[in-house]
Amino acid sequence: MGYNTTMRESSRVVVIGAGPAGLTLANLLRLAGVGCVVLERQSRSYVEQRQRAGVLDYASRRIFEEWGLAETLLAGAPEDHAIEIRVDGDPHVLDLRALSGGRTGRAIPQQMLITRLMTAFLENGGDLRFDAGDVALHDIDAPGLGPGSGSGPRVTYRDAEGAVREIACDYVAGCDGHHGVTRTAVPPRAATTYTYDHGIGWFTVLADAPPPRLPLFAISSHGFAAQFQRGPAACRLYLECAPDDAPDDWNDERIWKQARLRLGDETLPAGPIVDKGVVEMRSFVIDPMRYGRLFLVGDAAHIITPMGGKGMNLAIGDADVLARALRAAVRDGDEEPLAAYSATCLRRVWNQQEFSRWLTELVHESGDASLAGTFRRQLARARLDRLFASAPAGHAFADLLAGG
Ligand code: APR
Repeated sequence: MGYNTTMRESSRVVVIGAGPAGLTLANLLRLAGVGCVVLERQSRSYVEQRQRAGVLDYASRRIFEEWGLAETLLAGAPEDHAIEIRVDGDPHVLDLRALSGGRTGRAIPQQMLITRLMTAFLENGGDLRFDAGDVALHDIDAPGLGPGSGSGPRVTYRDAEGAVREIACDYVAGCDGHHGVTRTAVPPRAATTYTYDHGIGWFTVLADAPPPRLPLFAISSHGFAAQFQRGPAACRLYLECAPDDAPDDWNDERIWKQARLRLGDETLPAGPIVDKGVVEMRSFVIDPMRYGRLFLVGDAAHIITPMGGKGMNLAIGDADVLARALRAAVRDGDEEPLAAYSATCLRRVWNQQEFSRWLTELVHESGDASLAGTFRRQLARARLDRLFASAPAGHAFADLLAGG
């Protein structure tokens, strides 16, 4: 299709990607009275069915409460009030409600939150376009005459019918995850990237098997394991593995045998495995999370290991900071909060990266000594003891889990 047939439109903000970051941002922008169009590469059913995170931390819960969305989004989601850390079969329960002074999160499967965010946006007239192919950014660093001048960035894409469309805008929000296109629009000289490979793999399965009563972390010489609830009759299991393990290296027999060994529970009920995969334990951060009129949000700007459950929460936190900053820019002509966007988000991102790394070391090194040696195993066990025995250590842990 030639350039002449391109359909042109305009919007204040173009949001690219409809994951937790993009859908949260879209809802907050709607509430802030800032117009936006959301472009998502995948189909609606794909987005609704993708299973990933499962815990909304306290900081994210507060964000939805402050924007008046908590009732709609979190109805029926149970409080994440305690966790169990099982060491060689011995249970230790951390009462997060008491340790955090009531600053607890909510257990909610990501796809439920996503579906509710999508429904809230669409029912209120939101413009969300699925099956948007070949999304490309243009002139994100155009000097232009500023917002509203018509000389700002443009986003082009191919719609579900194959027509090429172009949207002129003032701001672009890159919410397209770690493998999206928006970060590639940032020239390497304009940003510093930080990457870290934790040297561990996690084999993960979703199973139609009874979930544990509390989120469960299990430490043993057989390696780390975790088991979490995903709805009333399903659970997610994580089993430490070699980073280069393939999902097919794990058949059902090996999965349940290892789960029973590591959880120290010979009677652990098995069930059909509905999904399996290997999670790469890698971290990534780009600094700054902005280039010209492009703002990177969520996984587009940073990835974190699942340890600590912060990926989705960081995405929601970024979206909140950006929505407030765009409201100030559009409503009051104040671009200061936008100028502070990256630094504001990165402070929290690095705090949570540190927490995630700390927890990763704690639960892996205290288990299988072949990972980091017997000396570090004893150190990790001492840290665990401190976590169970010292109230300030417990408070610090619960505070980091609360987020913010
Ligand atoms: N064009 C349009 N959409 C795109 C493109 C593209 N080129 N590339 C990716 N997308 C879409 C994906 O299909 C996906 O729906 O962007 C969305 C990105 O969503 P996520 O990868 O979930 O990223 P984010 O919203 O930042 O959420 C990140 O949520 O799932 C948790 O813990 C997980 O850390 C993760 C967090």
